[in-house]
Amino acid sequence: MDRLEFLKRLGVLTVGASLVGIDAKAMVSDGDLMEDAIPEVAASEKINTITEPLNAKLDKPITVMVIGAGNRGYTYARYAERFPQSMKVVGVADLNPYRRERLQKKHDIPAENIFEDFNDALAKPKFADAVIIATPDNLHYEPCMKALALGYDVLLEKPVAPTEKECRDILKQARKYNRIVAVCHVLRYAPYFRALKDVVDSGAIGDLVSIQHMEPIEYGHMAHSYVRGNWPLSEKTTPIILAKSCHDLDIMRWLVNKPCEVISAEGSLHLFRPENMPEGATERCIDNVDGKDCPHEKECPYSAKHVYLEKKKHLYVFDVPGNDPKLIREKLKTTNYGRCVFRCNNDQCDHYVATIRFKDGVTASFTMDAFTPWGGRRTRIMGTKGFIEGDMKTFKFYDFRTGHTSIWDKKVSEIADYKGSGHGGGDHALVRDFVRAVSAQDESLLSSTIDVSIESHVMGFMAEKSRKSMKKMKVE
Ligand SMILES: NC(=O)c1ccc[n+]([C@@H]2O[C@H](COP(=O)([O-])OP(=O)(O)OC[C@H]3O[C@@H](n4cnc5c(N)ncnc54)[C@H](O)[C@@H]3O)[C@@H](O)[C@H]2O)c1
Repeated sequence: MDRLEFLKRLGVLTVGASLVGIDAKAMVSDGDLMEDAIPEVAASEKINTITEPLNAKLDKPITVMVIGAGNRGYTYARYAERFPQSMKVVGVADLNPYRRERLQKKHDIPAENIFEDFNDALAKPKFADAVIIATPDNLHYEPCMKALALGYDVLLEKPVAPTEKECRDILKQARKYNRIVAVCHVLRYAPYFRALKDVVDSGAIGDLVSIQHMEPIEYGHMAHSYVRGNWPLSEKTTPIILAKSCHDLDIMRWLVNKPCEVISAEGSLHLFRPENMPEGATERCIDNVDGKDCPHEKECPYSAKHVYLEKKKHLYVFDVPGNDPKLIREKLKTTNYGRCVFRCNNDQCDHYVATIRFKDGVTASFTMDAFTPWGGRRTRIMGTKGFIEGDMKTFKFYDFRTGHTSIWDKKVSEIADYKGSGHGGGDHALVRDFVRAVSAQDESLLSSTIDVSIESHVMGFMAEKSRKSMKKMKVE
């Protein structure tokens, strides 16, 4: 789509079109386009994009084995429940019996294809078209290398692997065995980011000159995942710039559509350290060995009682049928999720800033922040002819020449079947494209091939090197 065609689609060039942009200049007093001068747009001025349904509509479903049937493995397997004509789950491997059996029952998996450890599953000859690898970060490499050698195509959770060498090995292995590896950079598949990319690629903003991109983690999510939960230690999993923000590096690289040349980063763990523990704080927020609650429980925003029992957030990690509060309370006595956030032996940064230079001098500034009340990426894109600003629910496009403003709105543009697909709809849209790619044996049906995914991972490895060494890093 060229710029003219795109603008026509927006309606900003067509008198009488159903989508008519508004004249922002009329609202500005002294010639400056001030933020508070940008008016809210009415429904008739919204950008409508075509959102593809999630059903891949294959003649014959592809078959998959799920390795790691926790949060992510279960999420991807749900695609098969929704669209059985496109994907069938025929095998599972998970150390956790509750999760293994949950999948086994949902998908009626034959007993001979149910395994505890991925090594047992991959000791068997290939029995499905593809594997979904959703084990912890440090357990992606081994199953992926083995699965590729057996001839499986792979849907591989991010981050690809904890080291650059392992990432590059996986790329080589995929090429050696001529297999498809789709990395779960799910945001690329979300209708919001697809529409944003369409606008940038149309040329409507002119040349893309710079990006400001923010990943607000949300204070509770930070404590749940990167202090108490699965990813508190960068060495045992991956540094947070990969564990959390490889999506963002990938999105920036994708929007800019040019290789990254230089990256530099800063960041640290500001809050969740023993020296910041309030005086008298106890080991656990409630039900300590002496039966008492922490004296700070009532004020602390990170109180486990408040998060898990009162707000009932993140309960999926407990594997408790029906989320029975009594059983969850028991889990808070025995797992890290009940611990004081200042006593979790964690080291992941809670704020991280990276400055990136892409080819042709395009720049990006990225911030990842734990201390926000909401999640949902915020992005500003500066072009020579226009500007975009978005928050994953809506984005606004401002045309410098015409002064018109147009808005893309998730509520208007998403279709019903995206409801319940996480990451702005990206989770199941990724699976749709993966099953199509496997069925047609054509990796170009994916938004990103493994080469490109590795490239954005290398940006993450270099950012972390820069943060630790206080030097700018070349990205090659
Ligand atoms: N794409 C995304 O946006 C996104 C979001 C969250 C997590 N992730 C990534 O997905 C992966 C899984 O995360 P999760 O939240 O589902 O974790 P999880 O803990 O819920 O699930 C991991 C599962 O792997 C199983 N497992 C561990 N060792 C195993 C072995 N040897 N053999 C078989 N199974 C084994 C565990 O029992 C567990 O059920 C991680 O790498 C994580 O970083 C990606």
